[in-house]
Amino acid sequence: MKNILFAASESTPFIKTGGLADVVGSLPKYFPKEYFDVRVVIPKYAAIRQEFKDQMQYITNFYMDLNWRQQYVGIFEMEYEGVKFYFIDNEEHFSGGGIYAGMPWDLEKYAFFSKAVLSILPVVGFHPEIIHCHDWQTGLIPVYLKERFAADEYYRSIKSVMTIHNLKFQGVWNIPTVKSITGLSSYFFTPDKLEKDHDANYLKGGLVYADAITTVSNTYAEEIKTPFYGEGLDGLMNARSNSLRGIVNGLDYEEWNPATDSFLTKNFSVSNFRKEKVKNKTDLQKRLGLAVDPKAMMIGVVSRLTDQKGFDLIAYIMDELCQDSIQLVVLGTGEERYENMFRHFAWKYDQKVSANIYYSNELSHQIYGSCDAFLMPSLFEPCGLSQLMSLRYGTVPIVRETGGLKDTVEPYNEYEGTGTGFSFTNYNAHEMLGAIRYAEQIYYDHKKDWNKIVERGMKADFSWGNSAKQYEEMYTWLAGY
Ligand code: ADP
Ligand code: GLC
Repeated sequence: MKNILFAASESTPFIKTGGLADVVGSLPKYFPKEYFDVRVVIPKYAAIRQEFKDQMQYITNFYMDLNWRQQYVGIFEMEYEGVKFYFIDNEEHFSGGGIYAGMPWDLEKYAFFSKAVLSILPVVGFHPEIIHCHDWQTGLIPVYLKERFAADEYYRSIKSVMTIHNLKFQGVWNIPTVKSITGLSSYFFTPDKLEKDHDANYLKGGLVYADAITTVSNTYAEEIKTPFYGEGLDGLMNARSNSLRGIVNGLDYEEWNPATDSFLTKNFSVSNFRKEKVKNKTDLQKRLGLAVDPKAMMIGVVSRLTDQKGFDLIAYIMDELCQDSIQLVVLGTGEERYENMFRHFAWKYDQKVSANIYYSNELSHQIYGSCDAFLMPSLFEPCGLSQLMSLRYGTVPIVRETGGLKDTVEPYNEYEGTGTGFSFTNYNAHEMLGAIRYAEQIYYDHKKDWNKIVERGMKADFSWGNSAKQYEEMYTWLAGY
């Protein structure tokens, strides 16, 4: 039996801002229980729904030395769908309405969390062979593991894995502050360790000290070795390329299943989507105040509204696109300029564009289940889960060929009758518009071919099975048996 501990800043169903939570909340379920005991640790944020807090069990508390003072560490636990979750409690760090508060507060919060993750292990009686760390918030775990904890026999054999879900976020601040926050000595703040461009960098620490590095698609694993995608760490990614591999994300096929999804007006499957799926569309049109027209091609967007996702391209051609016979349904929050851009077009073309500037799990399911196409023209995309959800719900993705989008969406080839979506290569607004218009043409003029694209997408398998096996192999190799 191998013990694995996932450490992350978010996980479904407890707390989520993006795909990281989907991965951390679903992957642990897919390891064979006879061989792997995979548990998860996240902070006990005040923002977690009361319903879940009520189900957590208090275990114990102790005081931990950090940042020149003794800090309270409370431990709660709860089993969810067969996986044990630990929650680290500290009101000072994890109160407030959201998850992230920005720098430098988050640096202090996640230094505390990272050290607490290691400190609770003997207390809860779970000794992992491997700690699997996700993104910059847990970047200090591999560092602490090799630093003060290495003196202790209990910790010496523990290996660490660092998974990059997004290289853009690194957790950066000036060295004197980080030194004092983390208690790490000057030894760690050199360019071969945590220092980058004269600042301290949590993710870099994790990437230097982890025993293995993964990222969430093969293409992104290659891309981050180049200056364009490398966010200043391409040199390090090249240096560690022997320890770096891409393992594409999967989807929780139980949670995301159009045949049983209780958020949908009408459930459907690959055998009856041709008749049934459209009922979701007309219902959504009614509720969102769009023109009710079963034939209109409805394009969905569900996303954090940041420049990563290619919204500059959409803004550039929005007026042109709205001249076509399409409808656009947007669900997202983020940068104000994109929020306002969509609000503006929803006002200008009120029968065609619906801007829903908030977070709603329910509406996200309904958009995946109602739309004909899904637009995701990302500037970069480590993996992307929205396009996988779209494929599963018979919604044809229109994507830029980057990162995980390239690895999961096969471009339509009308001559060979293959492909599950539409794609374009360059980060160029009219190239994107060309791909959208090609999709419109197939949708309106070649409906049979369109439905075959839908069918191929729904049949494609992006459940966790395959990828979980690749993680298993890596754990086995790292643990040395
Ligand atoms: P990222 O992690 O970069 O945000 P992914 O495609 O991997 O991108 O995952 C995004 C996840 O967040 C998906 O599950 C998507 O449905 C969800 N999501 C994004 N914005 C919203 C929103 N406003 N409301 C509900 N779900 C959202
Ligand atoms: C990040 C990436 C996204 C990926 C997700 C889960 O948020 O932006 O592409 O799917 O992590 O790995």
